[in-house]
Amino acid sequence: MAAVLTTTRLLGVGSYVPDKVLSNFDLERMVDTTDAWIVERTGIRERRIAPESMATSDLATRAAEGALEFAGRSASEVDLIIVATVTPDMMFPSTACLVQRKLGASSAAAFDVNAACTGFVYAVATASAFLSTGSYRLALVIGADTLSRITDWTDRATCVLFGDGAGAVVIESSSVNAPPGEILGSYLAADGTGWEVLMQPAGGSQMPASRETVDARLHSIKMNGNQVYKFAVRAMGNAVKECLSRCGLTCDDLDLLIPHQANMRIIEAAAQRLGVPESKVVVNIDRYGNMSSASIPVALDEAVRAGRLESGDIGVMVAFGGGLTWGATAFRW
Ligand code: ACO
Repeated sequence: MAAVLTTTRLLGVGSYVPDKVLSNFDLERMVDTTDAWIVERTGIRERRIAPESMATSDLATRAAEGALEFAGRSASEVDLIIVATVTPDMMFPSTACLVQRKLGASSAAAFDVNAACTGFVYAVATASAFLSTGSYRLALVIGADTLSRITDWTDRATCVLFGDGAGAVVIESSSVNAPPGEILGSYLAADGTGWEVLMQPAGGSQMPASRETVDARLHSIKMNGNQVYKFAVRAMGNAVKECLSRCGLTCDDLDLLIPHQANMRIIEAAAQRLGVPESKVVVNIDRYGNMSSASIPVALDEAVRAGRLESGDIGVMVAFGGGLTWGATAFRW
């Protein structure tokens, strides 16, 4: 019987964003909006849009390849793949199974996690729990979304917010007590009473696809922006504090905050509540907009490659999203 291993560590990071840039000025020609409004209200200047030939599993596979290369591991060594997404290639099979085939990771169990924009944090916590039992040794956790496919490009209140991309991490179980990249703990939360605030109404069993649902644009994201905004600031602050406290830490110990990138003002307000200075917050929303599950792993990958994490630094990834869901994961780099 396998020994019980209690430590998991981040071994590698990777990300992929499509080449096509859609700027605020491009959006000015599509809906009644302005670059000035979008920048002032959200901090977004441009976002990436996947070509028709690519689905979420293609973005995810590219990000995963980068993370495996960083970790110095091959796909054949991976025994668990979890993909966090709200834009799977199809309802089933899971996007994780499609990624498994594309990577040739034939020894891996594979499944998807849906916690909307909190998906990546949920998936990391799930993988970490699987690895901690000793039953699995090497996991690929991917956050990937092609939100452009479920965006209503006639709705100026939402279409300016979203973009496409994918990020991935390789996580390993370890018997060593304090290895580099150690995952210290997670805090996950949900409040299903807020389900209507942020959703894609049609296409599931409650409202199957029909001519009427397509005509009424019910296959795209519907959101009460103001309600999400208020919830987000509170949820991000609470999640960071709760996660750190479960790890025996406080905000004073924090070296780098990697927040979900939904709105620059939400990030600033949450950081201010926590007393975390701007210099310790990773921001890339100006270049990518909100990529849902992909926002955090793309930001983490960029921060690591830019040398923003030094050995021993405490990092926290924090997100909120539809469900409603929220959560955070702390690690020691
Ligand atoms: N361009 C110009 N004007 C606009 C635009 C636009 N793109 N969108 C809305 N407006 C207008 C509104 O119609 C409104 O006009 P009115 O005053 O004449 O009625 C005015 O701007 C203000 O609108 P508000 O909605 O109050 O603007 P706010 O400052 O709240 O910003 C926003 C809206 C950016 C959506 C904000 O509420 C927000 O970021 N909320 C959180 C969104 C979020 O995090 N979503 C997570 C999604 S995750 C997922 O879906 C996977």
